[in-house]
Amino acid sequence: MANAATLRGALALSGLILLAPLLPALGSEPANPEAAEPTKLKRKLDVWYVATPHEVVDRMIDEAKIRPTDIVYDLGCGDGRMVIAAAKKFGTIGVGIDMDPARIKEARANAKAAGVDKLVTFRVADMFEADLREASVVLLYLLPELNRRLKPKFFAELRPGARVVSHDFDMGKDWPPDRSLKLGSDGIYVWIMPPLAERGRLKK
Ligand SMILES: C[S@@+](CC[C@H](N)C(=O)[O-])C[C@H]1O[C@@H](n2cnc3c(N)ncnc32)[C@H](O)[C@@H]1O
Repeated sequence: MANAATLRGALALSGLILLAPLLPALGSEPANPEAAEPTKLKRKLDVWYVATPHEVVDRMIDEAKIRPTDIVYDLGCGDGRMVIAAAKKFGTIGVGIDMDPARIKEARANAKAAGVDKLVTFRVADMFEADLREASVVLLYLLPELNRRLKPKFFAELRPGARVVSHDFDMGKDWPPDRSLKLGSDGIYVWIMPPLAERGRLKK
């Protein structure tokens, strides 16, 4: 005869089986996040798509001093080339964010073709609404005013030692880069996120 513990176990199991179809709806993540994504632009882009030349991407990821444990973000990722290059070279996890669904579709296809689709994820999202707390490297090719608008977010969300590397545009005189260089006519700017205690004086 079944004892109380066996019965409780059986009831719990049958309860789980009954609840199983509801579980995705109860969790915070949809079962297939891609299916829930917008297929059209939600609002006007803050900057048009212009790709960073591959040789500049290669130098940017070298300047970021990427280690295999880094998590690399590209805000406004276009065709995904920055996080794809980092994944290919360093085996890093990457996240590319772009508000344009067409770019994200292209980026996912490129990641698959490059054989790094298990390492990189692409999201249709507004970079100003993205959660950057897990990023240890952030790559950018935007515009000066967009870099400056992102600055408070970097100060609030990025951990000390995280690197921000921007193609062509700086963050204004209030936050000079830790180093910068020229590659032909392209500029590369590198910031290393300071300790939390030192951020007050830079946070304008
Ligand atoms: C200059 S392109 C850079 C593409 C890529 N990072 C590269 O360097 O090759 C900027 C990208 O930002 C995207 N974008 C513009 N506004 C955005 C926003 N608010 N949130 C996310 N992406 C945005 C555009 O769709 C475009 O693909």
